[in-house]
Amino acid sequence: MPSPTADPSWLSVEDGANPAREREIESLFAIGNGYFGMRASLVEGARFSHPSTFVAGIFVADGVMGPRRAVLPDWSHFEVEVEQERLSLGVGRVLAHRRQLDLRQGILWREWRQQDPSGRITRLTYFQLASLADRHVLLQSVAITAENYAGRIRFTGRLCPSDMAGTDVEQIDAVSGSLLMSVPGKDIGIATASELQSLPASVPPRHESGPDGREEQWSWEVTLGQTVRLNRIFTIFTSRDVASPATTARDHVASIRAHGFRALAAAHLEAWRRRWEEAEVRIMGDDVAQRALRFATYHLIAAANSADEHVSVGARGLTGEAYRGHVFWDTEVYMLPFYLLTAPPTARALLMYRYHTLGGARRKAREQGFDGALYAWESADTGNEATPRRAVLPDGRIVTILTGEQEHHISADVAYAVWQYWRASGDDTFMLEAGAEILVETARFWASRAQAEPDGRAHIRQVIGPDEYHETVDDNAFTNAMAIFNLETAADAMEILQRKRVADWPRLCTHIHLAREEPARWRALAGALVTGFDPATKLFEQFAGYHQLDEVDVVTQRGCATPIDTCLGPERIRRSKAIKQADVVALSALLWEKWPTAVHEANFRYYEPRTAHGSSLSPAFYALVAARLGDRALALAYFRQAAEIDLANNMGNAAGGVHMGALGALWQAAVFGVAGLRMCENGIVLDPHLLPGWAEMAFPLQWRGRLLHVHLNADPRRIEVIVEKGDELTVAVLEGPACSARGGQRVVSRGNGSGWANWEVGQ
Ligand code: BGC
Repeated sequence: MPSPTADPSWLSVEDGANPAREREIESLFAIGNGYFGMRASLVEGARFSHPSTFVAGIFVADGVMGPRRAVLPDWSHFEVEVEQERLSLGVGRVLAHRRQLDLRQGILWREWRQQDPSGRITRLTYFQLASLADRHVLLQSVAITAENYAGRIRFTGRLCPSDMAGTDVEQIDAVSGSLLMSVPGKDIGIATASELQSLPASVPPRHESGPDGREEQWSWEVTLGQTVRLNRIFTIFTSRDVASPATTARDHVASIRAHGFRALAAAHLEAWRRRWEEAEVRIMGDDVAQRALRFATYHLIAAANSADEHVSVGARGLTGEAYRGHVFWDTEVYMLPFYLLTAPPTARALLMYRYHTLGGARRKAREQGFDGALYAWESADTGNEATPRRAVLPDGRIVTILTGEQEHHISADVAYAVWQYWRASGDDTFMLEAGAEILVETARFWASRAQAEPDGRAHIRQVIGPDEYHETVDDNAFTNAMAIFNLETAADAMEILQRKRVADWPRLCTHIHLAREEPARWRALAGALVTGFDPATKLFEQFAGYHQLDEVDVVTQRGCATPIDTCLGPERIRRSKAIKQADVVALSALLWEKWPTAVHEANFRYYEPRTAHGSSLSPAFYALVAARLGDRALALAYFRQAAEIDLANNMGNAAGGVHMGALGALWQAAVFGVAGLRMCENGIVLDPHLLPGWAEMAFPLQWRGRLLHVHLNADPRRIEVIVEKGDELTVAVLEGPACSARGGQRVVSRGNGSGWANWEVGQ
C-alpha cells in the first residue's frame, strides 16, 4: 500500500483545521487526472466546506450567464460513528489533524485523532487519489483505529447527498453502489459505481446498503487498539465517453476489482513516477522555489488529459468554480509550453480542442461581421462565446463585461500555440489535419479585421489587449504584433507544407479553400499593420494614445489590500497609465527573437513600474523577462510573487481554484527565463541566468522526438545537456558556438560557452 513520500520537500502540509482557510485548502490540495478533479474537502462535511467534483467537458446551462462547469456530487463522502457518536472536528477535542498533498505520488492524505465527549480516542487515516493510470478510477482507503476503547464503529459512505444539494445534477437511477445522473437541460448522463472491501478478514463487518442504493453502512465490533480498514474503488463514466455509462461504470468496477486495490494504487504511482521523470525541474539551493515548481508541476499534470481532444484546461483547472470552468488564452499562452516540452501528446490534445471548436470561432467572427475564426474569449464545451455579458460587483453595482466582444488577441494566441507545437514536435500530421486550418482561419480573421486607412497603414481598432483596465482601444501593440505573427506564420506554413508535403498539398488546399493569392495578401497586411513602435525611444506604445494618459503611482499602491482599479474607479483607471498585467512585456516573453535585447530592456523598464499585476498571469512573465535581461534580483522577486499566488493566497482568491495560467507561467519563468531556453530550427539554445541562491538547476525536455536533460551550474558556470534518445541536434549557448549531439551523447560547456566538449554518455 502507498505511504506518504518520506522527503518533506514533496509534501504540502496543512496542520490543524482553520475554517477561514478551508476553501483555499480545498483548492490547493485538490486531486485530479485531467478527466475529473475533486476538491480536497473534509469527507465528513462541515459548514465551511464546499465539496465539489468536476468532470472535464461537463457544463450546465446557467440562464443568461451562459455555461458553467457542472458541480458533481462528492463521492468520497463518509461519516464515522463510534457508539452512535458521530466523529466531527467540532465535537470533542481534536488531538491531531494533518492533511498532506503528496505531490510526487498524486495522493491526498489525512490523519485525524479525535477524542469524543466520552473520552474515546479514534484515529482516522485515509488517502484518496484520482488514478493517473486509469482516468475513470478513484481510490480511497480508510483506516479507523479504536485507540483507547473497545466498541462499535460504524462507517456510512454515500455516493451523493440525499437531495443532491450543492450539485448541478439530477439523479436518474440508483442501484446498489451505482448512480446514474443527468445534467438538467443537457443530453448527458454521468454514472458512478463504487465497491468497498473491509479488512482485515479477522474483524468481520456487518454490511447494509441503504434502501435507495446510494448509501452503504459497515460496522464492526472492535477490541481495544484494533484497526479496521475499508478500501473503496470508484469508477466514473459519462455519455461523452461511452454509450451506456451506468453499465460501463459497474462493469469497470467488476473488471478492475480482479487486479486488487494494491495493484491499482501501484499503477497510479508508476504513472506519476513517469510523469515526474518527464517534467521535474530541480533547483538546488532554493527550497522555496523548488517547492513552488513542484506544486505548479503537480497541478499542471493533474489538470490535463492527453486522451480527450474535446476538452481543454480551464483557468482554474479542475480545482474550483472560479471563472465557471472556462478556457481562456491562459491555456495556449501560459500553460501549453509546459505540455509541449514535457508531454507533447497532451499539447496536441489541447490544440485539437481548438480545432474542434473552430465552428464556434467561425460563428463568432461572422456575428461580428468578419471572416475566418475569432475564438471565444471564454470557451466552454461548444466553442461559442461564453463570457458573461454582465457582472455584479461586491458593492452591488452591475458592470458590462466587454472582453467577450473585444479581446480579440485570443485568435492569434491560439495560432501562436499551433506554430510553437509544430516547431517543437515536427508533427506534420497534426498540421495537415488540424493546425493549418487553424492558422489559415485565424489569419483570415485578421485580414478582415484590420483596416487599411488613409495614412497608408493598416489598423485594428476597438479592442481590449491583455491589459483589461483599458477597453475599446485602438492598435493595442500586443494584439497587432500577435496578428502580424499570425498572418506571417500562416503564410510560412503554407509555403513549408507546399514544399514538404507535395502529395498532401492539393487535398489540403481544397479542404481549407485556400485561394492562391491569400498568403501574399497576409504578408502584405502584416507589413502594413502599425505596431506603435518608436525607434527613437525603442518603446512600443501599448495602444494609440497611451503616452498621453495620466501617470499614477502604481508601485506604492501594489502593497495595498485594495487593488488599484478598485481604488481609482473605472474612469480614473481608464485615463491613467496603470496597467493590469503584462501586455507589451508579454510580447517580449512570446516573441523574444523578433526584437533586439535593447528593445526588450527599454519596454520592460518603462512598463514595469506601471504594472499593477492585477492578474495572476502577470508576475511570472515579468520574472521570465527580467531573467532574460539578466536582472536576477528582480527576476527572483517576481518569481517569488508568482509562486505565492496560490501557496500564500496573495491575491486572496485561491478559494476559487488554483491559478493554472500562473502555474504554467512559473514553469516558463524557470525554463525560458532562468535557463534561457529557446528553440530554433536545428536544436536548442541556452542562456542561463541562475537566480540568486540557485546553485544548480536541472530539467528534462522533449524536442522533435529527442529526449534531453539539461543541467546548469551557477559557479563555476557549467552547462550540460544529455541527449537521452533521438537523432542529432545542435546545442548552443547564446552567442557562442553550437555543437552537435545525438542520442547517447553528453555535451558540456564551461565558463562563457565558447567551447563545448562532447562525450558518449557514461564517459
Ligand atoms: C485576466 C485575463 C485572464 C483571466 C483568466 C483575467 O483577470 O486579465 O488575462 O485570461 O483573468 O485567468
